[in-house]
Amino acid sequence: MKQSIPPIVTIAEIANHQDQEIRIAGWLFNLRSKGKIHFLQLRDGTGRIQGVAVEGECDPSSFQTIGDLKMEASVLVTGRVRKDERAPSGYELTVSGLTVVQNPEEDYPIAKKEHGIDFLLENRHLWLRSSLPGALLRIRHQAITSLRNFFNSRGFILIDTPILTGAIGESAGTLFEVPYFDMGNAYLAQTGQLYLEAACMAFGKVFNFGPTFRAEKSKTRRHLTEFWMLEAEVAYLDNPGNLQLQEDMICALVEDILSRCQEELKTLGRDVGKLKKVTPPFPRLDYGEAIHWLQQQGHDIEWGSDLGAEDETAVSNRYEKPVFVVNYPKKAKAFYMKENPDNPETVLCADLLASEGYGEIIGGSQREDDHDKLLARIHEEKLPEEAYTWYLQLRRFGSVPHSGFGIGLERTVTWLSGTHHIREAIPFPRTLSRLYP
Ligand code: 4AD
Ligand code: MG
Repeated sequence: MKQSIPPIVTIAEIANHQDQEIRIAGWLFNLRSKGKIHFLQLRDGTGRIQGVAVEGECDPSSFQTIGDLKMEASVLVTGRVRKDERAPSGYELTVSGLTVVQNPEEDYPIAKKEHGIDFLLENRHLWLRSSLPGALLRIRHQAITSLRNFFNSRGFILIDTPILTGAIGESAGTLFEVPYFDMGNAYLAQTGQLYLEAACMAFGKVFNFGPTFRAEKSKTRRHLTEFWMLEAEVAYLDNPGNLQLQEDMICALVEDILSRCQEELKTLGRDVGKLKKVTPPFPRLDYGEAIHWLQQQGHDIEWGSDLGAEDETAVSNRYEKPVFVVNYPKKAKAFYMKENPDNPETVLCADLLASEGYGEIIGGSQREDDHDKLLARIHEEKLPEEAYTWYLQLRRFGSVPHSGFGIGLERTVTWLSGTHHIREAIPFPRTLSRLYP
């Protein structure tokens, strides 16, 4: 009688196969051998499990093969699933056979020993297999899923805004230029906001979620040149309503991460107690008060300038929750923000600073809906008026109060996961000095 081949099962669902003969399709990430026993550390992308091969019990040629395996050999392992309280996954595999898919001829570059960050980034294509990047990128995946769910459940329509744009978004200094046939240069989008403003007049509540490009020469732990941003834009929404929407979104996101990424947070050593404090309401701090407080703390900052990274860190460290800094000076912010009727030197806007010193993760505002004021701001900022013809038309055909914001995915994931540097919160980071791999 022909023996049936055991089914391939993922490590994530191994608990459903206790005492059954199964196969795992994966990679060997560590091997320890003691006399007549091989201990195989296996991973398959969904989890990790130890396989135990005992001479005499395991198929003899497989047992021989295991001894010659190099790290990261790809293997099909047959065995019986055994419950084991001491195992991190709760299960062990009693190995009966093994087929090699590919056995490396050289040593795997990433060893157990500590590597410097430059080495790890240079080997990002392999480093992805390690447990810390794995946990971080799973949290990123959950954050994307949760954010999409939040907007879908509230009736927002996804509007994909263009990546190649003809006009500049907010400021000319941070644009990547791309030659565009015989039309001169196109620019990689630094925001999709202006397009979302058009779309919210058509659909009411809209969002986008895609890559964003900034040619900023900032070499900080908060800056990438390519990052993912979710932007939302809502017609008939004022500034307080905009802040409420952001608060709801962040609370829903944190709740999801806490409940769905427990393993990952544990792997990363995240202090979840701090995340559990992220509950409504978030404090709202007036920009002027923030400046006054910063000056008292000895920060070299004047009313009128945007908060620097150190200022943001200091302000956010005052609170256990994220804090909205509201009503920045007009001259520190983009031309489209609505003038504050109570103080025309300021605008109806807010930055959300994440807790624990992580700084700005959201920028948003109510938008200037008055045609003439908007045009005046475009002139003041010396922006090319003709590029904004369509945008200005939105103020001539049924202009309404409207507001929106943009949340940076990687800054948010860096905060949620308690990671120091933003470059680890994206699969293949693009920075001032990195385009490889
Ligand atoms: O504050 P920003 O520049 O706002 C806008 O682009 C608006 N048009 C958004 C809107 O209102 N629709 O960027 C929004 C967020 C920041 O708060 C930050 O989280 C992230 O995008 N961000 C960056 N993330 C990584 N690297 C960079 N260089 C970033 N620049 C901004
Ligand atoms: Mg900003």
